[in-house]
Amino acid sequence: MKQRPDRGEVAHYIPELANVDPQHFGIAVVGVDGTVATGGDFDLPFSIQSVSKVFTLTLALGKVGDRLWSRVGREPSGSAFNSIVQLEYEKGIPRNPFINPGAIAVTDLILSGHQPREALGEILRFIRFLADDPAIVIDEKVAASEQRTGFRNAALANYMKSFGVLDNAVEMTLGVYFHQCAIAMSCLQLAKAGLFLAMSGRNPITGHQVIQAERARRINAVMMTCGHYDGSGEFAYRVGLPGKSGVGGGILCIAPGKASIAVWAPGLDAAGNSHLGRVALEALTKRMGWSIF
Ligand code: DON
Repeated sequence: MKQRPDRGEVAHYIPELANVDPQHFGIAVVGVDGTVATGGDFDLPFSIQSVSKVFTLTLALGKVGDRLWSRVGREPSGSAFNSIVQLEYEKGIPRNPFINPGAIAVTDLILSGHQPREALGEILRFIRFLADDPAIVIDEKVAASEQRTGFRNAALANYMKSFGVLDNAVEMTLGVYFHQCAIAMSCLQLAKAGLFLAMSGRNPITGHQVIQAERARRINAVMMTCGHYDGSGEFAYRVGLPGKSGVGGGILCIAPGKASIAVWAPGLDAAGNSHLGRVALEALTKRMGWSIF
């Protein structure tokens, strides 16, 4: 995989991510029996970006329950992750929790009544707990880079605020959102953090029942239908598993009852999803017979 020339483009709209070497490739597969298989740069931390949205959705559902779905829909958008058009038709309610406006609305629910620092601490602690790794940190340079240039997200957040969809000050919600996206994790840490979704809400390594089985099933359903934005259909067609991508080039992919897989290759396709990451997952699921279809 590391040798392949078809790599796509790194994310240029976040200056700090534009500097990442597109030659990186890493993969980690953690089985529900605790077995681990790794390859390439599996141990190198990268910016998880939108993969963080799986963890904030899980955390927010735990805090506010199904009330979350009055703020955010759960239909695929068929539009780019940072598109604004549907927000006007749909009165400021984002289509799903994985496009940028949806994730910003979810972060706003986590923030409610807290200081941004506390909310961010809660998100980071939750991810460390899931991965069973206290060493996971935020890359402040990436957060600052996005805070400086995130005009599109500011527009989305202000637009939602005008419809009363956000409770908190736009700058506060965005501050937390940019920092959650800037969390840095390796493929191995990410695959471990996602393992609860492969085992009906229970992390078989730590023994923690993180969420109920029904909720895990539903989060996987939203990952399947919306996890790759306007590339979700293509990902389902080729890989056949729930997955969530990030513009850092990471993908967390869940093989229910079998494994949690994380891949990282910084070059992106036109929809902003890791190109080689998807190619690798397609090859892996084909070889293992892991597609859910
Ligand atoms: O808000 C943004 O644009 C980025 N922090 C995250 C977007 C992202 O990762 C989209 N994923 N492929």
